[in-house]
Amino acid sequence: MLHQAIPTKERPKGWKDYVVPQDWGSFTDDDHAVWDLLFARQVELLGTRVVTPFLDGIDLLRLSHPGVPDLAELNLILEPRTGWRTVAVTGLVPDDIFFAMLSARVFPVGNFIRRREELDYLEEPDCFHDLFGHIPMLAHHDFAEMVEHVGRLGTAAIAAGEGDRVARIYWHSVEFGLAREAGAVKILGAGLASSFGEAHFSLESDDVERLPFSVERAVNTPYKHDAFQPRYLVSESLEQTIDEVLALSPERLLAL
Ligand SMILES: [Fe+2]
Repeated sequence: MLHQAIPTKERPKGWKDYVVPQDWGSFTDDDHAVWDLLFARQVELLGTRVVTPFLDGIDLLRLSHPGVPDLAELNLILEPRTGWRTVAVTGLVPDDIFFAMLSARVFPVGNFIRRREELDYLEEPDCFHDLFGHIPMLAHHDFAEMVEHVGRLGTAAIAAGEGDRVARIYWHSVEFGLAREAGAVKILGAGLASSFGEAHFSLESDDVERLPFSVERAVNTPYKHDAFQPRYLVSESLEQTIDEVLALSPERLLAL
């Protein structure tokens, strides 16, 4: 997730001010049933169309356990593994707050889940997108390090008035990236892994461009917030994405 403008004078000060209790007990039976439905449907849809560490992360973090995950329980596995932990938020957080959270290896998770009537329409990311889409890859040590680095790049870029540059890096890797694995193009990004419609579209549609990933291309490639992407960036491997992003300094990001 990313992005919401809140007037500066109304805003709390730091990222911790955006954290709320998950209040897991307030999820209803139907909320848990919606999670189960989304989870089963998406795992079947993805099959092996997603990079292997994503599937490993689902297993490691026991995300197949029925019902909306309890963040406290999830953190008991995630935090000792990679130093990442999840926190609950009420919705989208401002970009600078989001990147400050990533810098601290904290991932914000919406404290709500979509309704059964709106399984495929999301006004803003809910806990299914945030948990199913993002958290499996945060159990992968190198990817986990990369996302923290994106947080640092984001903080520096926003301070320089160039937040769009890091938003495009984030978008074309963490949210909508594709990566080759054993010769086949696979889903890497959370926005694709958690989407019923766009997962197959990104891999199989003839109506999109698929261009080789580089940080230079990512920085200079616009994206769409509100529709399927017209183009996807495909890295040679998960490791290429990680290595290129980790090697990117704030100074070079601003010069690309
Ligand atoms: Fe996201």
